[in-house]
Amino acid sequence: MNSFEQYLPQIIKSLKATYGADFFNSLTLQLNQVIGADYTFIAKLDAQRNTSQTISLVSDGEILDNFEYSLHDTPCADVSGNAVCIHPENIAVLYPNDLLLIEMGIEGYIGTPLQDSAGCVTGIVVALYKHKIKNADFIASLFELFSGRISAEIEREEKQQQLTKLNATLEEKVKLRTAELSDSIENLLFTQDQLIEQEKMASLGGLVAGVAHEINTPLGVAVLSSSIIKETLLKLSADLEKNTLSKYELQHGLQKIKKIEQAMSQNLSKAATLVKNFKQVAVDSNSDDLATLDLIRWLPGLVASLKPTLNNQNINITTKLPNKKVSFVTCPAHLSQVISNIVSNCAMHAFDQCQETLIRQIQITLKTKSSGISLSISDNGMGITKDIQRHMFEPFYTTKRGKGGTGLGLSIVNNIVKGALNGELMVRSSAEQGTTFEILLPYR
Ligand SMILES: Nc1ncnc2c1ncn2[C@@H]1O[C@H](COP(=O)(O)OP(=O)(O)O)[C@@H](O)[C@H]1O
Ligand SMILES: [Mg+2]
Repeated sequence: MNSFEQYLPQIIKSLKATYGADFFNSLTLQLNQVIGADYTFIAKLDAQRNTSQTISLVSDGEILDNFEYSLHDTPCADVSGNAVCIHPENIAVLYPNDLLLIEMGIEGYIGTPLQDSAGCVTGIVVALYKHKIKNADFIASLFELFSGRISAEIEREEKQQQLTKLNATLEEKVKLRTAELSDSIENLLFTQDQLIEQEKMASLGGLVAGVAHEINTPLGVAVLSSSIIKETLLKLSADLEKNTLSKYELQHGLQKIKKIEQAMSQNLSKAATLVKNFKQVAVDSNSDDLATLDLIRWLPGLVASLKPTLNNQNINITTKLPNKKVSFVTCPAHLSQVISNIVSNCAMHAFDQCQETLIRQIQITLKTKSSGISLSISDNGMGITKDIQRHMFEPFYTTKRGKGGTGLGLSIVNNIVKGALNGELMVRSSAEQGTTFEILLPYR
């Protein structure tokens, strides 16, 4: 064993940068050679199952396959109880039930426990000899010398395995969460699209309701007029048949019919105009089609279709237009959506806290510029605070949640103006003076 002093520094040096299986194998190989054992191994203990599993096993200068064995009736069981076991000879007599040792023809046994940082025995390092061991105490001290480093390495490896496992489950969790998140984002986007469609439909629905209500009045007058005319005609023809029709009665009857027919045709043409205006706004209200509009005619049509709803709220809407024809290529569906959203906002929000005596006004002003047109929609309401202005174009921002607001109106306006219409949108507002939304649209 004089070679030991010569080997020790070399062993320590060779172990310096090795970890895990490399470390265990390299150490076991070198120890096996230095102590001249027939078998040298390092094993991990499983206290619950009372078994031992080699993690490095060397014989004859070679690494053998690892194996697991039961600790029952073995010297290793004593080692696992935290005792250094030194049996230089007669091991088969001392442990007659350890058939494995007997089968292997083992004579001498040295085992040292390996303690983790908490003081628990987690492994053993063992040397087996087929002959009597001469320098057993020295070999036991050598094992003890390395036991600290071995158990540290076992602990480190286990921690690393735990970490790797944790990492894998973490990664799995992150993947799962990411998938869930992207699912819910997709759902949200879908819901948002649906809400935007609903808002568009709602503004169209509002228009339909308003127009239907407005058409009802002139049609009612027309129906009544026609029945009065019918009645008068029946009376006249009956009198004529009976030869009792006087000239005065005839004149009176004809005059009545003339007057009522006038009212009837006035009301019918009022209804026809309403339907015509409404058709312009509602037809294709979801299409992207471009058209050349004469804004001087188109805008009043749109305004007429908005009027019924505004009249109900005592709001007066007027237009200020240039004197000449303004031909403009645009998407009518989008432009009417923008204007009706802004106007219905004025109706819904601008006059909320205004004095009863205020004459509520909305004015739409069209101006032509060298690069395009400017459309301003102004109200004389309460204005919009800077704080609300900062958020009002965000989808779902509303100061009327639960009271009919969806918070989508201005977000749609903003998207259409800056997107499909390729224009700009500006807001000027002052408290108690009102608000102006100005839309600048370039020529195409
Ligand atoms: N003309 C206006 N006068 C005062 N406040 C307005 C006006 N137009 C918009 N607002 C404010 O901007 C907010 C956002 O408008 P909008 O996006 O159309 O949502 P909603 O009308 O559903 O509340 C409104 O809740 C309101 O506070
Ligand atoms: Mg709105």
